[in-house]
Amino acid sequence: MENRKKNVLSAIQPTGDLHLGNYFGAVKNWVAIQEKYNAVYGVVNYHTMTMPYKAANLQEATWKMIFMVMACGVKVENLFIQSLIPEHAELTWIFGCTCSYGELARMTQFKDKGEQLKEGDKEAFVSAGLFYYPVLQAADILIYHADLVPVGKDQEQHLELSRNIAARFNRQFNKEYFVHPEPLYTETPKVLSLADPTRKMSKSLGEKHYVNLFGDADRIRKQVRSAVTDTGERNDVMSAGVSNLFELLKACEKHDIRQSLLDDYSSGALKYADLKEAVVEALIELTQPLKENLAAIQADKRM
Ligand code: TRP
Repeated sequence: MENRKKNVLSAIQPTGDLHLGNYFGAVKNWVAIQEKYNAVYGVVNYHTMTMPYKAANLQEATWKMIFMVMACGVKVENLFIQSLIPEHAELTWIFGCTCSYGELARMTQFKDKGEQLKEGDKEAFVSAGLFYYPVLQAADILIYHADLVPVGKDQEQHLELSRNIAARFNRQFNKEYFVHPEPLYTETPKVLSLADPTRKMSKSLGEKHYVNLFGDADRIRKQVRSAVTDTGERNDVMSAGVSNLFELLKACEKHDIRQSLLDDYSSGALKYADLKEAVVEALIELTQPLKENLAAIQADKRM
């Protein structure tokens, strides 16, 4: 018991194609830690229903996400689909009675997402599901007795709620049944939008802001070549756009090329076109095999 592997739980929503930010920020790390820990990773399609989504596509998007994370190297036996496991919804009900209305009302993500919806449309539909979302997330985590949850800053509050729910449940039922999950912090590269490097790479910003991990090489080439570099404010600090391109080289583990381009930058001899070409090459080298993996998985009739 003492030496058992710790349980890790993480999850991703099936909101469409994976981009470089998802890959470097989450999925690559899932692959890296899946041997060291007893890892379980979910495609959480009930969560996706809390924001506007295309109902007719959700099933397909769920399976596509499974295939994409497998193509990145996640082992199929470590994966689950939230809606196929009734306990997620059942435990959500029980936990809903184990946390208070006030606790949920304090969740900043609920407030942010609610406001985001209202910005686009004053009459926007803010569902009760969006309010309940952190309870479902607590069920995801606690069902698997997760010791550790790899999280970003934006999910810390939800994890804390999961711990409070576990503690309250254990007290009410007078049994140390649920584990208290702790955050697992890992250094992951922060990938910014190529079109607006002051913001995190994200699909919600629009097409030109994110690089699809499974997109074709031509599109990657075009997007990187048109990446914003200097916006000309100051020249004593590296601009966000240039630093983002160096960050991508680092994420792709192109340390030598990165160092030599950094030396050029320091001596003032760097041509941005060369930096961009290096990034293009690194990204194509990274994504080509992933695309082949995905094609093979999708062609596999057992899937
Ligand atoms: N809320 C997470 C997100 O939007 C997704 C998620 C759902 C999750 N359940 C989880 C993450 C359990 C970690 C653990 O990204």
